Amino acid sequence: MQESQSYTRERGPAILAAKGVTVRVPLVAGNWKMNKTPSETEAFLTPFLPLVLQAKPEILLIPAFPSLDRAGRILRGTRIRLGAQDLHVEPRGAFTGAVSAEMLVDCGCHYVLVGHSERRHVFGEPDELVRRKLEAAFAGGLRPILCVGETIAERRAGKTESVLRIQLDAGLSGLSTRLLPDVVIAYEPVWAIGTGETATTEQAQDAAAWIRGWLHREVGSSAGEPIRILYGGSVKPDNAAELLALPDVDGALVGGASLDPKGFAQIVAGAPT
Ligand code: PGA
Repeated sequence: MQESQSYTRERGPAILAAKGVTVRVPLVAGNWKMNKTPSETEAFLTPFLPLVLQAKPEILLIPAFPSLDRAGRILRGTRIRLGAQDLHVEPRGAFTGAVSAEMLVDCGCHYVLVGHSERRHVFGEPDELVRRKLEAAFAGGLRPILCVGETIAERRAGKTESVLRIQLDAGLSGLSTRLLPDVVIAYEPVWAIGTGETATTEQAQDAAAWIRGWLHREVGSSAGEPIRILYGGSVKPDNAAELLALPDVDGALVGGASLDPKGFAQIVAGAPT
């Protein structure tokens, strides 16, 4: 991709790359999917904000589109970041029902999910569209969270790595090395999403380490090392700390368990400091 001149969002606390040492600040993100109205979003934030005042990781909330503006106003001036669940590839135009990066930025978003497994498998988004969304995110001033992961049939057939390779190649190959450090990758095995069946720590670490190896090989160490790799799939308060402690896991993408302010605050508290 051409380096985007319009990518101007300020760098978050994500990457401190002083004197050649890269520190990846943990990121704990809550993807609310099609849950919570704007009023329910406000009712979540009122008790949640005081619970995470002292939290060390970067915290990201990803509500549905209609709640973004309300959440953005409440979160302004706090450490909590806002993200969106999807975006359209074009900046504007006759695309009924679609939402552009510029609209999301105006609501206060810093991040956007691309290629979430529900977009891939329920809405049929192919890799090529995921890549265009990732580029549209950068062009519009957002950091993309590229979601990748295998189905249970693919895992059973021993195809986990080849699926990840295809998704990563399509999503990231050839992307400017200036933009790469601002990509976040979420490894979310499809069979663990919303099922209550979490990957074992060994499965999560193996996949994250494989992704880290791919990054080093394909985009090079200096561009690849700062990229954060999240684990997602039935993360809960009682399993978060062990997943977040894995050497190649830099955070979590949490669905169902992020809907409850206390439970999500407990997950945030489980991140290593
Ligand atoms: P879950 O969802 O935590 O409910 O499994 C995770 C996700 O879809 O990002």
